[in-house]
Amino acid sequence: MKAVAVFPGKQDSIHLADLPEPGVDDVPDGRGVLVDVLRVGVDGTDKEINDAEYGAAPEDYDFLVTGHESFGRVLEVGSNVRNIEPGDYVVATVRRPGDSIYDRIGTSDMTTDETYRERGINLLHGYLTERYVDDTEFIVGVPAALSEVGVLLEPISIVEKGIEQAYEIQRRLKLWRPARAAVLGAGTLGLLATLALRLRGLDVTTLARTGPPTLNSELVEALGARYLSTREVPLVEAAETYGPFDVVFEATGASVVAFEAMEALGKNGVLVLTGISSGDREIEVPGDRIMLNFVLGNKVAVGTVNANRSYFESGVWDMALAEARYPGWLGRLLTHRVQGLDNYEEMMRLLTEEKDAIKVFVEVAKDAGNGEV
Ligand code: BGC
Ligand code: ZN
Repeated sequence: MKAVAVFPGKQDSIHLADLPEPGVDDVPDGRGVLVDVLRVGVDGTDKEINDAEYGAAPEDYDFLVTGHESFGRVLEVGSNVRNIEPGDYVVATVRRPGDSIYDRIGTSDMTTDETYRERGINLLHGYLTERYVDDTEFIVGVPAALSEVGVLLEPISIVEKGIEQAYEIQRRLKLWRPARAAVLGAGTLGLLATLALRLRGLDVTTLARTGPPTLNSELVEALGARYLSTREVPLVEAAETYGPFDVVFEATGASVVAFEAMEALGKNGVLVLTGISSGDREIEVPGDRIMLNFVLGNKVAVGTVNANRSYFESGVWDMALAEARYPGWLGRLLTHRVQGLDNYEEMMRLLTEEKDAIKVFVEVAKDAGNGEV
């Protein structure tokens, strides 16, 4: 069976590998779900893995199959699988439990373990292959009405976790009615965060470097949110005009922006940090001023990574609501389709060079539709 893989630690080593066929009984106790892969999305993480910045091969392998944003259709289920049947559309989660107490209560996304296993990223093969099998615990059903956009569920789960964590934290305030939010970055995550916050009724200002009009700025405005280029309106200025921001969602991964966000955040506000950069840049910030206002404003900053199945489930609800309120909007994010696993070089090229790409995805197999598998 074909798979797209890298040799971890070796730069630009993306290649076609051969994997043994998985079987539903590879998972013990009849809990296996065998899935035909239909689509796999790629993002900066895949690029960084191919750049040998991180990623490790599973035991007994010298390669790692990449791809952690999956979408597929169930082929076969084990005898103890409930709620999922052959023919169902599904998305698999990414991280698998380790040993910490958080892993043991079903929240491996909050692990305190030093190393963690993530499919397509670290120590476990990913989904850029023809079929995979996994425990039913990690397989989330997607209604057929969302099949065209189901490949966006993994990135949406990241946004859901960030926002749910923010609301959870803000229970400290006894009364929290967030009115205004800023989203920093208008890539896939920034756009999806804009969507999720609009669905919760907030007035959203999304800031990115590029001046409008772009597809990204149009997508922001199609949600009734405001798009600003930071070249024209710096973040702190935007906070004076369109704030105070009760929520700031950071999705650029630039540390300068993260510290600016601490300044732009309103009193009692929450800053959600989701972006990362693998660099080690040192920056200068107005530390005293930021600290003073953070303390005097009772502000919170929270870092958030990965998502467990409950956030995938919330993502399904939000996708359904998005299709009702902004029909066709999610589909417009799927800008670049790569046909088949063989075209992995084209996939990497689009990911690294295509500046206008929002979501690049591989169509691994065509969906037979109509309940046919
Ligand atoms: C994935 C997360 C993962 C993180 C760190 C992201 O690209 O979407 O699921 O936890 O990378 O490896
Ligand atoms: Zn990702």
